[in-house]
Amino acid sequence: MRLQDKVAIITGAANGIGLEAARVFTDEGAHVILADFDETTGNQRVNEFEAEGRNVSFIQVNVADCSSVDQLMATVEEQYGCIDILINNAGITRDAMLSKMTPDQFQQVIDVNLTGVFHCTQAALPLMSAQGHGKVIVTSSVSGAYGNPGQTNYAAAKAGVLGMMKTWAKELGRKGINVNAVAPGFTETSMVEGVPDKILSQLTEQVPLQRLAKPRDIANAYLFLASSESDYIHGHVLHVDGGIVM
Ligand code: CAA
Ligand code: NAI
Repeated sequence: MRLQDKVAIITGAANGIGLEAARVFTDEGAHVILADFDETTGNQRVNEFEAEGRNVSFIQVNVADCSSVDQLMATVEEQYGCIDILINNAGITRDAMLSKMTPDQFQQVIDVNLTGVFHCTQAALPLMSAQGHGKVIVTSSVSGAYGNPGQTNYAAAKAGVLGMMKTWAKELGRKGINVNAVAPGFTETSMVEGVPDKILSQLTEQVPLQRLAKPRDIANAYLFLASSESDYIHGHVLHVDGGIVM
């Protein structure tokens, strides 16, 4: 087991990539805290996972809200006493061309996809520092590395998390905290469902591997970066995108 008895918080784990990561991590022996805004779905997932014998729990959080994140970390500390792994996976889109994007659409995406990652990592830091170990993973995107029409807000946030990740790699390495990023390509989750078919097929054609990612493709990258196999990989951006960005 690659994550035996590790305590892992995965934000945005009620759906999509985070949900698949919870499956992969529990397969490898971790206890996973599904930390998500969506309480109904989150509790449903816990029931399904527990029926399969998986070691999971759900804690409701809004990553954009500092006090909600503080409450999440305090609850995890009280119930489990440690945080071995933090996967900053929660994210949203509010797509619009620059000419039409409202300040509100811009700000909502920054609040969740950028500020949310800051809140969660900062709030996990005291416990990880005291433990003297930890694995922090941030989720970027092909959009942050490469740009994508209709995603000014999202690309800004996803490029921004890479800047934060590299800064934290420099600040936190000496505390035994390992920090890296995964940059997924277009992945088959509800997030891509709103993309018009014509645009989605154009995007797929641009992928050298000629397909979208499956959530498992991304979850496997999280697993590698969360496991001891990647202990000397630090400040790295792992592109999991079928070769779009190289
Ligand atoms: N590539 C090429 N051309 C594009 C394009 C793209 N990715 N996106 C839009 N265009 C073109 C359209 O074809 C259209 O061209 P014409 O005027 O010649 O017809 C023009 O730009 C304007 O587009 P729309 O008519 O669609 O404009 P709209 O205002 O109605 O909608 C939009 C704008 C909401 C951004 C819509 O185009 C859209 O949903 N685009 C896809 C955005 C996208 O890729 N989102 C990714 C979601 S998944 C995700 O975010 C995960 C991740 O990390 C990648
Ligand atoms: P999804 O929409 O399937 O799941 C996102 C989850 O985040 C949902 O369960 C949602 O409830 C939760 N969430 C949203 N706002 C939240 C908040 N404020 N606080 C707590 N939880 C919140 O999305 P998907 O595709 O699984 O995305 C996961 C991550 O991967 C995101 O960061 C996304 O930006 C990134 N990504 C996704 C790609 C894709 O094509 N699907 C490509 C590249 C990156």
